[in-house]
Amino acid sequence: ASTLGAAAAQSGRYFGTAIAGSKLGDSNYTTIAAREFNMITAENEMKPDATEPQRGQFSFSAGDQIYNWATQRGLKVRGHTLAWHSQQPGWMQNMSGSALRQAMIDHINGVMAHYRGKLAAWDVVNEAFNEDGSRRQSNLQGTGNDWIEVAFRTARAADPSVKLCYNDYNIENWSYGKTQGVYRMIQDFKSRGVPIDCVGLQTHFTGGSSLPGNFQTTLSSFAALGVDVALTEVDVTNASTSQYAGLTQACMNVSRCIGITVWGVRDNDSWRSGESPLLFNSGGGAKAAYSSVLNVL
Ligand code: XIL
Repeated sequence: ASTLGAAAAQSGRYFGTAIAGSKLGDSNYTTIAAREFNMITAENEMKPDATEPQRGQFSFSAGDQIYNWATQRGLKVRGHTLAWHSQQPGWMQNMSGSALRQAMIDHINGVMAHYRGKLAAWDVVNEAFNEDGSRRQSNLQGTGNDWIEVAFRTARAADPSVKLCYNDYNIENWSYGKTQGVYRMIQDFKSRGVPIDCVGLQTHFTGGSSLPGNFQTTLSSFAALGVDVALTEVDVTNASTSQYAGLTQACMNVSRCIGITVWGVRDNDSWRSGESPLLFNSGGGAKAAYSSVLNVL
């Protein structure tokens, strides 16, 4: 196959990108995005600050713009994200305790009702762990250690058809404390019947030319718990071809690794644009990393 999406589809996987609504008027950008990718994540437009700017007043115009652009082209959409310490609306940032817990539940219900039946997956909870594997301190964590499972139970009831994912960064190295902390949570959720379908590994790689240790072991270990895994926000310092090929191969080697999403289209679209971390250069040309990925799919 001659595009990332079509190549990934040969093994039943998808290849996605983050899309910024502000760039949908750039035809160089949209041409590449629609041609190469078959899964779309809104880079910012479905986050809590975007979807509930005032308490109880939901705003879906920016998210819907991306959803409509994608689905009109036959591309699927991942929802990102419902409960996160970052990019909370101002009204939520200073909340705590039972009021915040209720606000989280209401937010999940409000957003998921709007997209009910329409999305491939939701990143229900994003980045809830510290590097050492303990829970990240946040206003959400302050509502009680059960906030994550409450978020997942709420999400399952709100839309039983969508896959529910836990998403985080620096959980690629199997020997790392954070990876183990997330693994134990997923293991606990599966053993107690807390609804969860997938783990998203953001896969923001920095430095080096080799993969973080045992990346494929991490993927297969999570999968062995009975969840799908996906690489959800891939970018790599200087787009190292060996790292891009390696992360793609690791996913291909694990049957429950269902897809790969890169966190932007061209280098100048990246939140790490100074590191040239994506598959297309700022002019829209395919980089060496693009071929290294396509060859492995
Ligand atoms: C980033 C976006 O790319 C930026 O545009 C925004 O300013 C900050 O958030 N982990 C995540 C993503 O889950 O939502 C983040 O996206 C990158 C890190």
